Amino acid sequence: MIESIVSLLRCPLCGGAFSKTENSLVCARRHTYDIARQGYVNFVPGQKEMFYRKELFEHRAKVFEAGVFAPVVGRLTEAIDRYAPGESPVLLDAGCGEGYYAKAVCPGRRMTRIGFDLSRDAVRLAARGPKTAAFFAADLKHIPMRDHTVDVLLDVFTPASYAEFGRVLKTDGVVMKLAPRSGYLRQLRELAGTQLRHAAYDDSDVERYAHEKMDVLHQEAITYTLDVSPETAQHLARMTPMLAGIDVDALDLSGVSKITIDETLYIGRVKAQTMTTETHGEDTR
Ligand SMILES: C[S@@+](CC[C@H](N)C(=O)[O-])C[C@H]1O[C@@H](n2cnc3c(N)ncnc32)[C@H](O)[C@@H]1O
Ligand SMILES: [Zn+2]
Repeated sequence: MIESIVSLLRCPLCGGAFSKTENSLVCARRHTYDIARQGYVNFVPGQKEMFYRKELFEHRAKVFEAGVFAPVVGRLTEAIDRYAPGESPVLLDAGCGEGYYAKAVCPGRRMTRIGFDLSRDAVRLAARGPKTAAFFAADLKHIPMRDHTVDVLLDVFTPASYAEFGRVLKTDGVVMKLAPRSGYLRQLRELAGTQLRHAAYDDSDVERYAHEKMDVLHQEAITYTLDVSPETAQHLARMTPMLAGIDVDALDLSGVSKITIDETLYIGRVKAQTMTTETHGEDTR
Protein backbone atom coordinates (compact mmCIF):
# COMPACT_ATOMS: atom_id res chain seq x y z
CA MET A 1 0.00 0.00 0.00
CA ILE A 2 2.73 2.46 0.95
CA GLU A 3 4.07 2.30 -2.65
CA SER A 4 0.86 3.92 -3.88
CA ILE A 5 1.37 7.03 -1.72
CA VAL A 6 5.16 7.58 -1.96
CA SER A 7 4.66 10.67 -4.15
CA LEU A 8 2.50 12.26 -1.41
CA LEU A 9 5.11 11.80 1.34
CA ARG A 10 8.06 13.93 2.33
CA CYS A 11 11.05 13.20 4.50
CA PRO A 12 10.31 14.26 8.10
CA LEU A 13 13.96 15.32 8.55
CA CYS A 14 14.67 17.40 5.44
CA GLY A 15 11.33 17.67 3.63
CA GLY A 16 12.75 15.99 0.52
CA ALA A 17 10.92 13.60 -1.79
CA PHE A 18 11.27 9.85 -1.30
CA SER A 19 12.08 7.06 -3.66
CA LYS A 20 11.21 3.52 -2.79
CA THR A 21 13.80 0.78 -2.73
CA GLU A 22 12.85 -2.83 -2.07
CA ASN A 23 12.19 -2.47 1.68
CA SER A 24 12.60 1.19 2.44
CA LEU A 25 11.92 4.80 1.56
CA VAL A 26 15.01 6.92 0.91
CA CYS A 27 15.26 10.69 0.33
CA ALA A 28 17.92 12.50 -1.71
CA ARG A 29 19.93 13.08 1.47
CA ARG A 30 19.84 9.35 2.19
CA HIS A 31 17.52 9.53 5.22
CA THR A 32 16.11 6.02 5.21
CA TYR A 33 12.91 4.55 6.69
CA ASP A 34 12.25 0.84 6.59
CA ILE A 35 8.98 -0.59 5.36
CA ALA A 36 7.83 -3.14 7.96
CA ARG A 37 6.75 -6.62 6.95
CA GLN A 38 3.12 -5.58 7.52
CA GLY A 39 3.60 -2.76 5.01
CA TYR A 40 3.68 0.32 7.26
CA VAL A 41 6.54 2.81 7.70
CA ASN A 42 7.78 4.10 11.03
CA PHE A 43 8.77 7.79 10.72
CA VAL A 44 9.37 8.13 14.49
CA PRO A 45 11.81 5.29 15.17
CA GLY A 46 12.97 6.62 18.57
CA GLN A 47 9.43 7.16 19.88
CA LYS A 48 8.64 5.47 23.20
CA GLU A 49 5.29 3.74 23.49
CA MET A 50 2.74 5.88 25.31
CA PHE A 51 -0.36 5.35 27.43
CA TYR A 52 -2.11 4.04 24.33
CA ARG A 53 -0.96 0.44 24.27
CA LYS A 54 -1.77 -2.61 22.21
CA GLU A 55 -4.47 -3.93 24.63
CA LEU A 56 -6.36 -0.65 24.50
CA PHE A 57 -6.41 -0.72 20.69
CA GLU A 58 -7.54 -4.36 20.71
CA HIS A 59 -10.48 -3.44 22.95
CA ARG A 60 -11.27 -0.54 20.62
CA ALA A 61 -11.24 -2.95 17.67
CA LYS A 62 -13.84 -5.19 19.41
CA VAL A 63 -16.08 -2.21 20.13
CA PHE A 64 -15.87 -1.11 16.49
CA GLU A 65 -16.64 -4.68 15.32
CA ALA A 66 -19.77 -4.62 17.51
CA GLY A 67 -21.00 -1.62 15.50
CA VAL A 68 -21.09 0.85 18.38
CA PHE A 69 -19.67 3.62 16.18
CA ALA A 70 -21.39 2.60 12.91
CA PRO A 71 -23.77 5.61 13.03
CA VAL A 72 -20.73 7.92 13.33
CA VAL A 73 -19.19 6.27 10.26
CA GLY A 74 -22.51 6.79 8.44
CA ARG A 75 -22.48 10.49 9.25
CA LEU A 76 -18.82 10.90 8.26
CA THR A 77 -19.51 9.10 4.99
CA GLU A 78 -22.29 11.56 4.10
CA ALA A 79 -20.08 14.49 5.05
CA ILE A 80 -17.08 13.25 3.03
CA ASP A 81 -19.27 12.61 -0.02
CA ARG A 82 -20.61 16.14 0.30
CA TYR A 83 -17.38 18.04 0.99
CA ALA A 84 -15.07 15.94 -1.22
CA PRO A 85 -17.26 14.89 -4.16
CA GLY A 86 -14.37 14.69 -6.68
CA GLU A 87 -12.74 11.66 -8.20
CA SER A 88 -10.61 9.60 -5.80
CA PRO A 89 -10.06 12.11 -2.97
CA VAL A 90 -7.17 11.77 -0.50
CA LEU A 91 -8.31 11.06 3.05
CA LEU A 92 -5.83 11.40 5.92
CA ASP A 93 -6.80 10.07 9.37
CA ALA A 94 -4.57 11.81 11.94
CA GLY A 95 -4.19 9.75 15.13
CA CYS A 96 -5.96 6.87 13.42
CA GLY A 97 -5.56 4.34 16.26
CA GLU A 98 -6.19 0.87 14.91
CA GLY A 99 -7.44 2.26 11.64
CA TYR A 100 -11.20 1.81 11.89
CA TYR A 101 -12.37 5.11 10.42
CA ALA A 102 -9.80 5.25 7.60
CA LYS A 103 -11.02 1.85 6.39
CA ALA A 104 -14.74 2.11 7.18
CA VAL A 105 -15.86 5.51 5.85
CA CYS A 106 -17.31 5.73 2.33
CA PRO A 107 -17.54 1.95 1.79
CA GLY A 108 -16.90 0.99 -1.83
CA ARG A 109 -15.79 4.50 -2.84
CA ARG A 110 -12.50 4.88 -4.66
CA MET A 111 -10.27 7.06 -2.54
CA THR A 112 -6.69 7.17 -1.30
CA ARG A 113 -6.96 6.23 2.36
CA ILE A 114 -4.07 7.04 4.67
CA GLY A 115 -3.84 6.79 8.46
CA PHE A 116 -1.08 7.57 10.91
CA ASP A 117 -0.58 7.48 14.65
CA LEU A 118 2.24 8.14 17.09
CA SER A 119 1.73 4.68 18.57
CA ARG A 120 3.50 1.95 16.63
CA ASP A 121 1.26 -0.67 18.29
CA ALA A 122 -1.76 1.07 16.79
CA VAL A 123 -0.23 1.35 13.32
CA ARG A 124 0.81 -2.29 13.39
CA LEU A 125 -2.78 -3.32 14.17
CA ALA A 126 -4.12 -0.94 11.52
CA ALA A 127 -1.87 -2.47 8.85
CA ARG A 128 -3.29 -5.97 9.41
CA GLY A 129 -5.82 -7.48 7.04
CA PRO A 130 -6.91 -6.33 3.58
CA LYS A 131 -4.69 -3.56 2.22
CA THR A 132 -7.33 -0.93 1.62
CA ALA A 133 -5.42 1.89 3.32
CA ALA A 134 -1.79 2.92 3.85
CA PHE A 135 -0.50 3.48 7.39
CA PHE A 136 2.57 5.02 8.97
CA ALA A 137 3.77 6.00 12.43
CA ALA A 138 4.29 9.75 12.78
CA ASP A 139 3.68 12.73 15.02
CA LEU A 140 0.82 15.00 14.06
CA LYS A 141 3.01 18.01 14.81
CA HIS A 142 5.33 16.95 11.95
CA ILE A 143 3.25 15.10 9.38
CA PRO A 144 5.50 13.59 6.69
CA MET A 145 3.11 14.55 3.88
CA ARG A 146 3.82 17.13 1.16
CA ASP A 147 2.02 20.48 1.25
CA HIS A 148 -1.54 20.63 -0.12
CA THR A 149 -2.04 16.95 -0.86
CA VAL A 150 -5.08 16.09 1.30
CA ASP A 151 -8.80 16.58 0.59
CA VAL A 152 -10.23 15.46 3.96
CA LEU A 153 -8.34 15.30 7.21
CA LEU A 154 -10.07 13.25 9.91
CA ASP A 155 -9.21 13.97 13.54
CA VAL A 156 -11.22 11.61 15.74
CA PHE A 157 -10.83 11.97 19.51
CA THR A 158 -7.24 13.01 18.88
CA PRO A 159 -5.42 16.29 19.60
CA ALA A 160 -5.46 18.72 16.68
CA SER A 161 -2.46 20.45 15.17
CA TYR A 162 -4.34 22.95 13.03
CA ALA A 163 -1.33 24.74 11.50
CA GLU A 164 0.10 21.44 10.31
CA PHE A 165 -3.35 20.29 9.14
CA GLY A 166 -3.62 23.50 7.09
CA ARG A 167 -0.24 22.86 5.49
CA VAL A 168 -1.09 19.35 4.26
CA LEU A 169 -4.67 20.16 3.19
CA LYS A 170 -5.45 21.35 -0.34
CA THR A 171 -6.82 24.92 -0.40
CA ASP A 172 -10.40 23.63 -0.56
CA GLY A 173 -9.67 20.68 1.76
CA VAL A 174 -11.49 20.31 5.09
CA VAL A 175 -10.81 19.11 8.60
CA MET A 176 -13.45 16.79 10.08
CA LYS A 177 -12.94 16.71 13.80
CA LEU A 178 -14.90 14.59 16.26
CA ALA A 179 -14.71 15.31 19.97
CA PRO A 180 -16.65 13.88 22.94
CA ARG A 181 -19.59 15.76 24.47
CA SER A 182 -20.85 15.63 28.02
CA GLY A 183 -23.08 12.56 27.51
CA TYR A 184 -20.34 10.39 25.98
CA LEU A 185 -20.33 6.92 27.66
CA ARG A 186 -22.56 8.35 30.37
CA GLN A 187 -23.37 4.91 31.81
CA LEU A 188 -19.70 4.06 32.41
CA ARG A 189 -19.02 7.47 33.85
CA GLU A 190 -21.90 7.09 36.30
CA LEU A 191 -20.60 3.71 37.39
CA ALA A 192 -17.09 5.01 38.00
CA GLY A 193 -18.62 7.94 39.91
CA THR A 194 -16.31 9.57 42.40
CA GLN A 195 -13.24 7.68 41.14
CA LEU A 196 -13.22 9.90 38.03
CA ARG A 197 -10.88 12.85 38.07
CA HIS A 198 -13.38 14.97 36.13
CA ALA A 199 -17.06 14.36 36.79
CA ALA A 200 -18.14 15.52 33.31
CA TYR A 201 -16.55 16.19 29.95
CA ASP A 202 -16.20 19.88 29.40
CA ASP A 203 -15.86 20.34 25.66
CA SER A 204 -15.92 24.14 25.70
CA ASP A 205 -12.12 24.50 25.25
CA VAL A 206 -12.11 22.17 22.24
CA GLU A 207 -15.00 24.10 20.71
CA ARG A 208 -13.45 27.51 21.31
CA TYR A 209 -10.13 26.33 19.90
CA ALA A 210 -11.74 24.81 16.78
CA HIS A 211 -13.48 28.12 16.04
CA GLU A 212 -10.32 30.11 16.71
CA LYS A 213 -8.24 28.06 14.28
CA MET A 214 -10.81 27.19 11.58
CA ASP A 215 -13.65 28.72 9.67
CA VAL A 216 -16.20 26.18 10.87
CA LEU A 217 -18.51 25.41 7.93
CA HIS A 218 -20.67 22.94 9.79
CA GLN A 219 -21.10 21.76 13.37
CA GLU A 220 -23.47 19.14 14.70
CA ALA A 221 -24.02 16.86 17.66
CA ILE A 222 -24.12 13.11 16.98
CA THR A 223 -25.99 11.57 19.89
CA TYR A 224 -27.56 8.13 20.28
CA THR A 225 -28.04 5.37 22.83
CA LEU A 226 -27.80 1.73 21.86
CA ASP A 227 -28.07 -1.71 23.49
CA VAL A 228 -24.76 -3.43 24.16
CA SER A 229 -23.90 -7.01 25.11
CA PRO A 230 -22.04 -7.70 28.40
CA GLU A 231 -18.87 -8.43 26.35
CA THR A 232 -19.08 -5.13 24.52
CA ALA A 233 -19.58 -3.31 27.84
CA GLN A 234 -16.34 -4.91 29.07
CA HIS A 235 -14.44 -3.81 25.95
CA LEU A 236 -15.91 -0.30 26.19
CA ALA A 237 -14.70 0.09 29.76
CA ARG A 238 -11.19 -0.89 28.65
CA MET A 239 -10.96 1.09 25.43
CA THR A 240 -11.38 4.55 26.80
CA PRO A 241 -8.78 6.91 28.24
CA MET A 242 -11.70 8.34 30.22
CA LEU A 243 -11.36 5.51 32.77
CA ALA A 244 -7.55 5.69 32.88
CA GLY A 245 -6.27 5.22 36.41
CA ILE A 246 -9.43 3.42 37.52
CA ASP A 247 -9.48 -0.24 38.50
CA VAL A 248 -11.83 -1.36 35.73
CA ASP A 249 -11.80 -4.97 37.01
CA ALA A 250 -13.41 -3.74 40.24
CA LEU A 251 -16.31 -2.09 38.41
CA ASP A 252 -19.55 -4.10 38.30
CA LEU A 253 -20.50 -3.76 34.64
CA SER A 254 -23.34 -6.30 34.82
CA GLY A 255 -26.00 -3.56 34.86
CA VAL A 256 -24.60 -1.78 31.77
CA SER A 257 -26.88 -2.80 28.90
CA LYS A 258 -27.07 0.55 27.12
CA ILE A 259 -24.40 3.00 26.06
CA THR A 260 -24.74 6.60 25.00
CA ILE A 261 -22.52 8.05 22.30
CA ASP A 262 -22.47 11.84 22.33
CA GLU A 263 -20.00 13.68 20.10
CA THR A 264 -19.56 16.91 18.19
CA LEU A 265 -18.58 16.88 14.53
CA TYR A 266 -16.77 20.03 13.37
CA ILE A 267 -16.14 20.51 9.65
CA GLY A 268 -13.93 23.45 8.80
CA ARG A 269 -11.18 25.06 6.75
CA VAL A 270 -8.04 26.08 8.60
CA LYS A 271 -7.76 29.89 8.70
CA ALA A 272 -4.83 31.41 6.78
CA GLN A 273 -3.81 33.22 9.94
CA THR A 274 -3.56 29.92 11.84
CA MET A 275 -0.83 28.79 9.46
CA THR A 276 1.21 31.99 9.61
CA THR A 277 1.07 32.81 13.32
CA GLU A 278 1.61 29.48 14.96
CA THR A 279 4.67 27.74 16.18
CA HIS A 280 4.80 24.01 16.58
CA GLY A 281 4.02 22.56 19.94
CA GLU A 282 1.37 24.95 21.20
CA ASP A 283 -1.32 23.76 18.90
CA THR A 284 -2.53 20.40 20.13
CA ARG A 285 -6.00 20.04 21.55
C1 LIG B 1 -8.53 8.27 21.80
S1 LIG B 1 -7.42 7.64 20.60
C2 LIG B 1 -8.40 7.75 19.11
C3 LIG B 1 -7.93 6.81 18.04
C4 LIG B 1 -8.82 6.77 16.78
N1 LIG B 1 -8.94 8.05 16.13
C5 LIG B 1 -10.19 6.23 17.16
O1 LIG B 1 -11.12 7.03 17.24
O2 LIG B 1 -10.29 5.04 17.41
C6 LIG B 1 -6.25 8.97 20.41
C7 LIG B 1 -5.12 8.62 19.43
O3 LIG B 1 -4.27 9.74 19.22
C8 LIG B 1 -2.95 9.26 19.08
N2 LIG B 1 -2.04 10.39 19.32
C9 LIG B 1 -1.88 11.11 20.46
N3 LIG B 1 -0.95 12.08 20.28
C10 LIG B 1 -0.51 11.96 18.98
C11 LIG B 1 0.46 12.66 18.19
N4 LIG B 1 1.17 13.68 18.70
N5 LIG B 1 0.65 12.29 16.92
C12 LIG B 1 -0.06 11.25 16.38
N6 LIG B 1 -0.99 10.54 17.08
C13 LIG B 1 -1.21 10.89 18.36
C14 LIG B 1 -2.87 8.15 20.12
O4 LIG B 1 -1.80 7.26 19.91
C15 LIG B 1 -4.23 7.49 19.96
O5 LIG B 1 -4.22 6.45 19.00
ZN1 LIG C 1 15.61 13.54 4.24
